[in-house]
Amino acid sequence: MHNRLMVALDVENRAQALAVRDKLGDAAGWLKVGLRLFVAEGPQLVRELATTHRIFLDLKFHDIPNTVAQAIESAGALGVDMVNIHAAGGEAMLEAAATAAGRFPSMQLIAVTVLTSDPMPAEQARQVALQRARLAQQYGLQGVVCSVHEVAAIKASCGHDFVTVTPGIRWGGQDVQDQKRVADPAAAINAGSDYLVVGRPILKASDPHAAATEAVAMMQRAAG
Ligand code: C5P
Repeated sequence: MHNRLMVALDVENRAQALAVRDKLGDAAGWLKVGLRLFVAEGPQLVRELATTHRIFLDLKFHDIPNTVAQAIESAGALGVDMVNIHAAGGEAMLEAAATAAGRFPSMQLIAVTVLTSDPMPAEQARQVALQRARLAQQYGLQGVVCSVHEVAAIKASCGHDFVTVTPGIRWGGQDVQDQKRVADPAAAINAGSDYLVVGRPILKASDPHAAATEAVAMMQRAAG
């Protein structure tokens, strides 16, 4: 199960990132590098983190098709295991991105459907997420980022093998912060989520290793 837990390294710099990585050890199989850390430290840190963990490069590309395709090629050359784009970027962008990602078979290309912080009503979010997931699948993407509440509908429509990556994970009365559609690790597994993205509940914990281990234990119990 630890290979289905992605820890969001939403920290300032290399030293903090390596400190979290070292505290986690193998409690989580994946590290997610987002905008803040990548802008601060760049590809060298990604290479360093990739020596011990699988890497989800969460830069949510959204630009003209050619620019996005080039960025995907750079991500592939860097050797990350997963990269993402905004499904809202349109069909030509999805197609160009999927073509570029096709040259790197071990890298999964995922689309962001609706941000979990988006204030749109839950039912509307579900419909938009589903529509964008179908579009992403049509263009050959491997899966989507979505909230736990949209996983069942997406799996029902796109099939079990279509990957779902779910942020907005909270448990035990944790502060939801800016997330709007949250769920706990057990609910995420029960819904069929493939990968759980957890940031602040682990980063801000007094013991990040214990917090990650607790999340994995909840995932394991849910899986039976
Ligand atoms: O701290 P927290 O657990 O809320 O972190 C969630 C992580 O998932 C952040 O890195 C955020 O950028 C990312 N994310 C998200 N919603 C999406 C896509 C990514 O929260 N739809």
